[in-house]
Amino acid sequence: MAQWRARARQTYIYLMLSQTIAPAPEVIEELRDAHRRSGALIVAHNYQPGWIQDLADVTGDSLQLARIAQSHPATRIVFCGVRFMAETAKILAPEKTVLLPARDAGCSLADTITAEQLAAWRDEHPGAIVVAYVNTSAAVKALADVCVTSANALEIVGSIPTDRTVLFLPDVFLGTWIKRTLRRAQMLVWHGECHVHAALEPALLERVLHDDPDAVVYVHPECGCTTSALLVDEPWSRRVRLLSTTQMVQAASTETHSRVIVATETGVLHQLRRHQGRRFEPLARSAVCTYMHRVTPTLLRAALEDGWGAVDVDPTTSAAARKSLLAMLDPARRPW
Ligand code: 13P
Ligand code: SF4
Repeated sequence: MAQWRARARQTYIYLMLSQTIAPAPEVIEELRDAHRRSGALIVAHNYQPGWIQDLADVTGDSLQLARIAQSHPATRIVFCGVRFMAETAKILAPEKTVLLPARDAGCSLADTITAEQLAAWRDEHPGAIVVAYVNTSAAVKALADVCVTSANALEIVGSIPTDRTVLFLPDVFLGTWIKRTLRRAQMLVWHGECHVHAALEPALLERVLHDDPDAVVYVHPECGCTTSALLVDEPWSRRVRLLSTTQMVQAASTETHSRVIVATETGVLHQLRRHQGRRFEPLARSAVCTYMHRVTPTLLRAALEDGWGAVDVDPTTSAAARKSLLAMLDPARRPW
């Protein structure tokens, strides 16, 4: 047990450092050269370490990165993020080469539901519309009617006729937020959670609202405190905003409060802190996604120079998953 604790502490310290300590300037320069020679497009999720966000051609949330994968003319995409994101890119652009330098970068939330579990759940509710958060495997997406991200979930679920039952998966906090906000009676929510966001609990949110009456709090809807963020009374409620990662970056540009507490993975602070004159702080410093921090300079270089990390999705699964992703991106393709 003591050994396990020591290892967990070491991993945590390593991750904290890897967020702030970039590789040496000469290593960054070599990576820039390799990038130029490769002609590849480097895309990075908003949770990636700062040095990767700075090297990337584009940064964004899951929705933006899916759109870029689909529409950008580059034929080779190096995806600095996690597997479900790179798979999404490959499904939307099967003709492109998609490389995931950190091949073992999974997602604890995506792991909370398998295709077999979803098939059984769907069979129990014939006629229901299955809404899958993009944080799912390709096989799960293949069984869904539509995918959503945190940036568009409210709008998409809100467009489903209210007489249809909705099965929402896998995130319980995001799903409950949508169900309550839309006051949707016929909506069942899978009980999955992301270990990083679930740990951002109601008590942490309450403490910060109580301790600093001037601070505003940005909350990602996957957080354990999402439901309480919805339920807090005036005047606290005026200081809580539920936002996807890119919505946080956008909100920061017009923020009038001088102190902003951020309830999500701490990688997003890199972009938020470009806004001068305001302080951006994490709700918890420990909100670090180990999967998002697996890209090393060696792996990135191997992807750029040797094509390391090619992502493939079997054609049958890919074709079915593509339908639910396209239904997300194009309202005309929604099956209701
Ligand atoms: P966004 O869709 O806001 O980028 O979030 C993705 C994610 O993995 C949240 O943990
Ligand atoms: Fe998955 Fe959570 Fe990491 Fe996002 S932060 S990639 S949901 S494990």
